[in-house]
Order: sequence, then C-alpha cells, then structure tokens
Amino acid sequence: MGVFITFEGIDGCGKSTQIKLLDRKLKEKGVRTLVTREPGGTEAGCRIRQLLISTEVCLDKYTQLFLFMADRVQHLEEVIRPSLRNGIWILCDRFADSTIAYQGYGLGVKLELIENIHREILKDTWPDITVVLDCPVSMARKRLELRERAVPGCPSDVGYDRYEGASAKFQEKLRKGYLEIVKRSPDRAFVVDGSRDVGTVHSDIINTLKKRKLWPSET
Ligand code: TMP
Repeated sequence: MGVFITFEGIDGCGKSTQIKLLDRKLKEKGVRTLVTREPGGTEAGCRIRQLLISTEVCLDKYTQLFLFMADRVQHLEEVIRPSLRNGIWILCDRFADSTIAYQGYGLGVKLELIENIHREILKDTWPDITVVLDCPVSMARKRLELRERAVPGCPSDVGYDRYEGASAKFQEKLRKGYLEIVKRSPDRAFVVDGSRDVGTVHSDIINTLKKRKLWPSET
C-alpha cells in the first residue's frame, strides 16, 4: 500500500510549494508518487471545481458541502484508492479537513453532519498523515496577491476564487478551525509554522514524516 499524505491550510499558506518540494524529495528516494488535489482531482471533479470556485454563481453552504463531497467520492474511487493499492504515495492538496474548516468552522455547517458523511464515503481511506501549514492571515493574503494562477486542466481557474476573496475575519475562522482539527486528531494531523522560509518548513515536514515512520527505508 502507498502512503496517503494530505496538505491543508488557509489559501496562501504555502501548500503548493511544499507539495512540490516533498514530491521531488520522495522521487529522489525512488518512491512512486502522485500529486493530486481537491476539488478537481478527476475530470468530473474539474467541472465541479469550476462551479465551486466561481464567484458568478451563488451557492448555499449545503450546496457547497455536497459538491465538495461529490468531488471527493469520485476522487477516492478513481484516483486515491487505486493508486494506494498500487503502492503509490499520494500527495493531496486539500482533502476532508478542508470541508471541516471551510464549510464547518467557516460557514457553520454542523461538524457532526460533515463527520457522518465522511464516515460513509471515506470508510477506511483516511490520510496517514495531514500537514497543516499555519501562517498569519495577513501573510497568506500577501502571498496570494503575488501568486501566478495557472491551474492545469481547469482553465477558468484564474483570479481570486470564492473563498480567497472572503474577508480576513472569515480567514481567521478557518485558521482557528484548522488548529482545532489538529487538537482533535493529533495522531494524524500536525501543524507546521508556515511563516518561516521554505527550506526550514520543508525540513520540518520531512522530520515529522520520519518520526512517524512514514519515510521510505534507506536501501
Ligand atoms: P484551492 O484553491 O486550494 O485548490 O481550493 C479551492 C478552494 O476551495 C479553497 O479556497 C478552499 C475551498 N475548499 C472548501 O471550501 N472546502 C473543501 O472541502 C475543499 C476541498 C476546498
């Protein structure tokens, strides 16, 4: 079986950079990896993503919830489970914790409802480890302003999306939500201070993976 690693945090926390670095490092070690994302890790998911992040369409919080879940089921069935069965390590940019943070802590959907749906659709496929990159909201927003927005396979994904454009107050709620998630699942999730330089954050992530015995054995 492969290892399932998810990356979480508010928009602009530095997930994509850290995923790229870890992917490169694991490949150097001879590990077969797959970098994927939610929403949008499948063809259907890409279409769902366009609807979800578009600021032109108004979506109720439950509509958002079920669309993220629809994307997740498809992703699990088409990509995540088959890859893990083939020994491939998955590096996933956002997963179940994003729904808990954004739709739960952010928009006020009951956590119990989200957890019940997850129990039903995830079954045993929980991440082996979840990296939560934490940084001040002001820093994340600055990074977003500087970022280039080219998203492979999802051409309409340009500019600020539904959640990135949300108020700093909303982003603070998400940040607190993520810290709460780590407190509730300390065996699976850990916080990394993402406000430091890229190399230091990368080393921290590797050290934690090693400590939790989720690192390829040296040959
Ligand atoms: P991304 O830009 O990080 O790929 O994610 C798109 C947006 O979707 C991001 O602002 C976070 C949000 N999101 C949720 O609100 N709930 C979820 O379950 C997921 C996976 C993402």
